[in-house]
Amino acid sequence: MTRYVGAIDQGTTSTRFMVFDREGRVIAQAQEEHRQIYPAPGHVEHDATEIWTKTQGVMRAALERGGLQPGDLAAIGITNQRETTLIWDKATGEPLHNALVWQDTRNDRLVAEFARDGGRDRFRDLTGLPLASYFSGLKLRWLLDAVPGARERAEAGDVLFGNIDTWLVWNLTGGPDGGLHVTDVTNASRTQLMSLKALDWDEGMLATFGIPRAMLPEIVSSSAVYGEIRAPFTGVPIAGILGDQQAALFGQTCFAPGEAKNTYGTGCFALMNTGTEAVPSKAGLVTTVGYRLDGQPPVYALEGSIAITGALVQWLRDNLHMIKDSAEVETLATTVEDNGGVYFVPAFSGLYAPHWNEGARGLIIGLTRYADRGHIARSVLEATAFQTREVLAAMEADSGIPVKELRADGGMVANGTLMQFQADILDVPVVRPTVSETTALGAAYAAGLAVGYWKGLDDLKGNWGVDRRWEPAMEAADRDRIAACWSRAVQRALDWKT
Ligand code: G3P
Repeated sequence: MTRYVGAIDQGTTSTRFMVFDREGRVIAQAQEEHRQIYPAPGHVEHDATEIWTKTQGVMRAALERGGLQPGDLAAIGITNQRETTLIWDKATGEPLHNALVWQDTRNDRLVAEFARDGGRDRFRDLTGLPLASYFSGLKLRWLLDAVPGARERAEAGDVLFGNIDTWLVWNLTGGPDGGLHVTDVTNASRTQLMSLKALDWDEGMLATFGIPRAMLPEIVSSSAVYGEIRAPFTGVPIAGILGDQQAALFGQTCFAPGEAKNTYGTGCFALMNTGTEAVPSKAGLVTTVGYRLDGQPPVYALEGSIAITGALVQWLRDNLHMIKDSAEVETLATTVEDNGGVYFVPAFSGLYAPHWNEGARGLIIGLTRYADRGHIARSVLEATAFQTREVLAAMEADSGIPVKELRADGGMVANGTLMQFQADILDVPVVRPTVSETTALGAAYAAGLAVGYWKGLDDLKGNWGVDRRWEPAMEAADRDRIAACWSRAVQRALDWKT
């Protein structure tokens, strides 16, 4: 009997392979970062070939570290940075361009053009999404316009589109030699090309955006045996695909309507399960597919997407060289008692939920001679918590369900100072589960369910436990005062015109 399930977690800054046992414990893992390519302000690219090479590398390394054989894995699941858009040559597997990363805003003119005729929300009912630079459809349109010959070759079926899940599955199952061209419903729900209700590519959207259907992958459920890996682990089934934020929702076992999680990674993504009903957002969130188990109805979610949170800490490290490693931000932030009146709005990719504004730009405000490195570090951490507060308020308004407790996961939950401030500024407890690697775990769960490694959702619920809980401890008057300062700072970032 196979002992474990594996998960590829291909994120914005790194790729991981993790192996889990039945209790959801991590047995082995390996991780590698990949290059972030910034050719111009607002442009962010990844080299998809580098990502594929590193994926194979971490898969091999994790097994080696754990003393495991491919035959020890019952199945593998994939979870991925969503929206990041790639086109490649079907015959050679060569990308035609670097992947346009979800944070990339170079399609902003297309966004404005489409919004002019009918407004930013014109496709919301159909797709759940506002017009924004973030989603794949208009990134793909930009590539088809910009890469010579791409459109004609795509129409002929010689050039394929995929998000990173599709790219990895295609390569893992043979690449040019019969690789599977699929994506799951959660990833497809981020393209703005899929009908949320029909769960299929929408002909009207394809015609409006000018996307040839021949280049699109088949949409499959999030948990099913799609095929077998050829390399590097020949014969192991690939049996789960979930966009990374949906994977975290699944890994946090938020299976009941009203259950919500927030993942603190490059950005922050708060998702609330809304059951089999796709709840439209009026407060600036997006409606998305949460997951779909094979043969079952889809489960939808409301999502508050925040582009820059952990990425701001990296920016402090890589662009300002103010800290040597990310963990140091906490040390620096605790050298001061409060933010000293300093607010940092990290609108590096404009602002996403609930504002949806490509033109907003980052700012630091409230500076005086008194402010020092500690206050800047503190304002960086607080920016994550303030942005989360904004999207959770929108979530409560849209769903009518008060968030009574926030399940937190992702890299930044190691930062106790941030978690305490988060509980304070929300005025609700924040809970960190025992396995904080819920993204990879969610993908492993989806794959393991498909092959019967886990019998059902109750098995998974039994694996969830509390590691730590932060209780709110801030006076209401203080909370209101600083939250109002934050809102004024955001307004200034929104008013900035590039
Ligand atoms: O929508 C973008 C999101 O999927 C990226 O997540 O964890 O790679 O920053 P992460």
